[in-house]
Amino acid sequence: MNIELNGDTVEIFSPPLTSLLTVLREELDVTSPKVGCEAGGCGACTVLVDGTPRRTCLTPVAAVDGAAVTTVEGLGTADNLSTVQQSFIHHHAAQCGFCTPGMVVSAGAYLDAGGTDDRKAIQEALRGHVCRCTGYYKIIEAVAAAATQSRFDTTTTAEDASTVVLSGGSS
Ligand code: FES
Ligand code: FES
Repeated sequence: MNIELNGDTVEIFSPPLTSLLTVLREELDVTSPKVGCEAGGCGACTVLVDGTPRRTCLTPVAAVDGAAVTTVEGLGTADNLSTVQQSFIHHHAAQCGFCTPGMVVSAGAYLDAGGTDDRKAIQEALRGHVCRCTGYYKIIEAVAAAATQSRFDTTTTAEDASTVVLSGGSS
């Protein structure tokens, strides 16, 4: 079996029913997909398979043989982050970061599909992604901003995001 991982073709030697999550983390040393519930309920393990968000804990690697798999590392580099990665940083949309790789790849897929800054649509796109640290306000604002703006200053924090921290959630 093989997959195209973030643009590179890699051969897989794990047994076919091994979860894609285990293959990514333990065979290929790609640790951004996180081990959360391992039951399809938290979204921490999400990657893109042929551009569509997929829970890797529930996906046998044989089911993605030949597919293009994109993890958060594949969206951009440290020197050239994708728009949604920049926006998450600028809007302080992560705390511990455990849920963040899954959130970011799903948000990226939403935006690539023409997603807008409609908050309800963003909530729907991120449904099933659980963040244990924070409210979802800044995450949703980061995605909404990325729908209307292509670059963000990652050395500063969006004013509304810090206001929310201080004011307890109202904008
Ligand atoms: S670890 Fe896969 S959905 Fe929670
Ligand atoms: S930032 Fe910690 S779980 Fe979401």
